[in-house]
Amino acid sequence: MRVLFASSEVFPLAKTGGLGDVSGALPAALTEAGTDIRVLMPAYPEALDLAEGKRQVGDLGDPFGIGDTVSLVSAKLPGSGVPLWLLDCPAMYRRAGGLYQDRAGNDYPDNLLRFGLLSWAAARLSTEDSPVKWRPQVLHGNDWQTGLAPAYLHAWVPAERPATVFTIHNIAYQGVFPKDSVPRLGLPWELFQMEGLEFYDQLSFLKAGLFYSDRLTTVSPRYAREIQAAPHGSGMEGLLAHRAADLDGILNGADYRVWTPDSDPFLPHTYVPSDFTAGKAANKAALQAELGLAIDPAAPLLVVVSRINDLKGLDMVLAAMPALLRMGAQVAVVGTGDHSLEEGFRAAAATSPRQVAVTIGYSEKLAHQLLAAGDMLLMPSRFEPCGLTQFYAFRYGTVPVVHATGGLADTVVDATYDGLMTGTATGFTFEHANAGAFQWCVERAVGLFRQPETWTKIQKTCVAQDFSWKRSAARYQSLYQGLVPQAGGKRR
Ligand code: ADP
Ligand code: GLC
Repeated sequence: MRVLFASSEVFPLAKTGGLGDVSGALPAALTEAGTDIRVLMPAYPEALDLAEGKRQVGDLGDPFGIGDTVSLVSAKLPGSGVPLWLLDCPAMYRRAGGLYQDRAGNDYPDNLLRFGLLSWAAARLSTEDSPVKWRPQVLHGNDWQTGLAPAYLHAWVPAERPATVFTIHNIAYQGVFPKDSVPRLGLPWELFQMEGLEFYDQLSFLKAGLFYSDRLTTVSPRYAREIQAAPHGSGMEGLLAHRAADLDGILNGADYRVWTPDSDPFLPHTYVPSDFTAGKAANKAALQAELGLAIDPAAPLLVVVSRINDLKGLDMVLAAMPALLRMGAQVAVVGTGDHSLEEGFRAAAATSPRQVAVTIGYSEKLAHQLLAAGDMLLMPSRFEPCGLTQFYAFRYGTVPVVHATGGLADTVVDATYDGLMTGTATGFTFEHANAGAFQWCVERAVGLFRQPETWTKIQKTCVAQDFSWKRSAARYQSLYQGLVPQAGGKRR
């Protein structure tokens, strides 16, 4: 089975969030399971630096007339050795800022072309006009940045085309641009209609992916149901309900090669998951010292590793902060995002430096250290397609406190009386996304944290969880297999 897996970020070459983690780990798991996969991503400067065994393999011309040629560089993904195609177009991707935004946090004004090109290339490499011989039987796109690929295939009507799968990692990000973008991207106007890529008189990359792909997936079963209705569907609920028979929720996994405390290069003290007590205590003391928090083993340490915005519910953490501090808790945050929330966290740290530590920015190292040192991970997301940090927390014996939504609801078992008695509890959940409910949930967690025997029992259940990619990869494989008899002709 030959699969082209297109994504705008792939760990460890480029990552802003979970999409990067998934795009690094799932293709590796699929390769191990026997799939012949190529990962396609833009040749960002750091990706070109880190990719192994680079070699130019093809020329894709200048499809949008931007005055720079596009070429294809073949390489290998460090760590897993998965075959990689880097889409090289210096004018588009060699930038000093982030993947999507400049250093000031503004979206690049030409993201239309940057990800239009990624979509175009994914489609082109799937047809007889590809400059390389290897052609996929399945084209698997991820999120809006690759959403136009199946629309191009639809428009071109190539003699041969692969089946198409499109995965929604987060429906809130849609890639919507003014309608004059349609000819700019070389797409025919016929596609600009409600039954196509038009969304309220604008061009939507996401809608193109949802409309023109043969099969749709999202990253947890519950989120697959949620997005078929408002408000979770973010305007796409009608289309998704209509396509319900083609939509699967396949839970993400965790890459335990990267996320495991026994071989984690970022930790001052490594420890085996099944024997976490001393190791966690040592990491907690080291982190408290490092961040200037009171060195106090008895203070519950609540950690946040997250993009900072309202969707992640971090406004609730701020609102509940005084109450959390009154409980004697410490809060350690690493994250970046919404400036006003960032300011709020900075102010809390300035007022209570012995109880609150905030690092605004992106740090893989601190992410690993917080997950090892923390007693609880806070994830009060208003919605969460899957979420990955709760899986990492489990592995490190850190107990998640989460809003019961999407993948969080599918993966965290609340420490109710039943959950505790049956030994299935792995965390604390609350139903209604408001600061009061969140605060009460943390209070419950802190109450049990102060009963060491019960707490250790929950931690033991956490570290015993297995969310490795193998199972999820098998589901993607059977999805591909179901589609392949249709490859090479079928068009929607
Ligand atoms: P999302 O993709 O919505 O941001 P996920 O839970 O799926 O949420 O994945 C988030 C990923 O990004 C995790 O690997 C997490 O460790 C990482 N991450 C988020 N913020 C930061 C940060 N400030 N520094 C380092 N890693 C971060
Ligand atoms: C998105 C979602 C997150 C998910 C990740 C990987 O960024 O917000 O919930 O885990 O994609 O699928």
